[in-house]
Amino acid sequence: MKEEIYKKPKQKNDFPPNLENYEEAADTFTWKDARPYVDWVDGGLNAAYNAVDRHVQTWRKNKVALFWEDEAGVEKKYTFEDISLLSNKVGNILKDFGVERGDRVFLFLPRVPELYFSFLGILKIGAVAGTLFSAFQEQALADRLENSGAKVLFTTSELKPRVDKIRKKLPALEHIIVIDDPSFIKSVERASDELHIAKTDPDDYAFMLYTSGTTGKPKGVVHSHRAVIQEHLTARWVLDLRDEDTYWCTADPGWVTGIAYEILGSWSNGVAALVYAGRFDPDRWYKLLDKYNISVWYTAPTAIRMLMAAGMDVVKKHNLTHLRHLCSVGEPLNPEAIRWGLKVFGLPFHDTWWQTETGAICIANYPAMDIKIGSMGKPVPGLTAAIVDDKGHEVAINTEGNIAIKPKWPSMMHTIWKRPHKYKSYFTNGWYISGDRGLKDKDGYFWFIGRADDVIKTSGERVGPFEVESALVAHPAVVEAGVIGKPDMMRGEIIKAFVVLEKATLEKTKTKPQEEALKEELSVYVKKHLAGHAYPREIEFMDKLPKTRSGKIMRRILKAKELGLPIGDTSTLEDY
Ligand code: WTA
Repeated sequence: MKEEIYKKPKQKNDFPPNLENYEEAADTFTWKDARPYVDWVDGGLNAAYNAVDRHVQTWRKNKVALFWEDEAGVEKKYTFEDISLLSNKVGNILKDFGVERGDRVFLFLPRVPELYFSFLGILKIGAVAGTLFSAFQEQALADRLENSGAKVLFTTSELKPRVDKIRKKLPALEHIIVIDDPSFIKSVERASDELHIAKTDPDDYAFMLYTSGTTGKPKGVVHSHRAVIQEHLTARWVLDLRDEDTYWCTADPGWVTGIAYEILGSWSNGVAALVYAGRFDPDRWYKLLDKYNISVWYTAPTAIRMLMAAGMDVVKKHNLTHLRHLCSVGEPLNPEAIRWGLKVFGLPFHDTWWQTETGAICIANYPAMDIKIGSMGKPVPGLTAAIVDDKGHEVAINTEGNIAIKPKWPSMMHTIWKRPHKYKSYFTNGWYISGDRGLKDKDGYFWFIGRADDVIKTSGERVGPFEVESALVAHPAVVEAGVIGKPDMMRGEIIKAFVVLEKATLEKTKTKPQEEALKEELSVYVKKHLAGHAYPREIEFMDKLPKTRSGKIMRRILKAKELGLPIGDTSTLEDY
């Protein structure tokens, strides 16, 4: 295959990238050299202090940290000092509730300003913040809140009924704070804005996120304050954030990108950031890029593909000349998306690779490095990445294997909450095995091939098939379900479910309209019980699912059949 290379134009000398020479940094930089980039207070490291409070000691005190806008067009603005003081208030309110270091405090909120300063307030008192995507429904909420033993939950009056339904399953949950309730608004007014920020150890837990694997319930990936070091440096080197920028990360803090690059790493660089609390809409997105003079933009391939599909007319209405650096994360970035970026913005998207577990960008394309279009780039300076076989031995150049990272890197997860064995299972022969397959070429560029397991990536969001299967079998008409990711031009993958129906239902769904109605009902059921984004867009009824002799559903076979691929080894397969 012929390589397509985007050669970086020569930088003007007065505007060099933050990381001027990738190769040199990759050869010489070690994590010890990272120490001066963050503020240590009396030997302690607090990620929230680094994100906002350290700027309050400088000229950035009155600089806008957050430009906020919602779908209805309501606008708000907060300086670094505003966010520092508001997060102090939240810290004090939580202390009054008896929240102590190490306690879990969860945020079940849409992208409202309160989400951002509450997150920081939690970290400032040494408690552990957990974020919950606002599309979550009862089952997804119950799994996460039960396992984490959250003591306090922040939510809105609109979302609270979902929590009420599962409240009895949550004995550890002592307080629900409803942020639009007058009593909370009053308590914020009254609370002191002076707070003694906890002198947290770099290894103290700071935040946790639930994410999906192939089997079992979602797992709580726990990160420590140390993560801010790598989040800061990668925001500086990869996103190339500067004081003059207005930066827009389109992720939700319910996912790791929204924490690492919308709160911690981005603000620790003192950048002014936009948060848009609304749904995707091409015209609106271009309008926001234009109105806020966005210069650095971090988004995801599905969004880029949707913008591509919306066509050129809508682009032309807006002035997008402030854009200077574009990055992408979450799924493979198609070469067409890069070519389109070059055509429309005159700029290439820079792919970045990482995971909830890695806590920060690990492999990336850098502003000063030529892009091999289709490649994820090279490891972050300080970090060692490799392609290894299943036993943890490095494989030859251009050979497919597991994408692996050498522990420890600063933002590496510290544990899986209450599941130490699960945590251990990530490591083989001294390598962290990511679950992604890829290869490394002769020039050290990494290329993504696919997942090693059944994890689904739909619109950039990570969904475990087991969660969807469990939600489906909870419906009375369903006996069994097998769920896979099916390749999709727009969304990367869509969720497809193969469902075995209960006998009586089967008899009642003989006609096409009856069948369609039931499929619709099942989709809605998953949407309502699990999460708004994790429902199957396609359902197929089956008489029987392929299983191993021990009764495990073989998704691999469902997928191969769906894609018309060879089925592979079936020696463990039950008669099918
Ligand atoms: C996938 C998101 C291809 C990958 C920050 C990984 C990618 C999973 C890329 C983690 C990329 C992420 N190219 N695939 N540049 N970036 N992925 O935990 O399969 O939500 O394992 O973290 O997304 O998803 P997660």
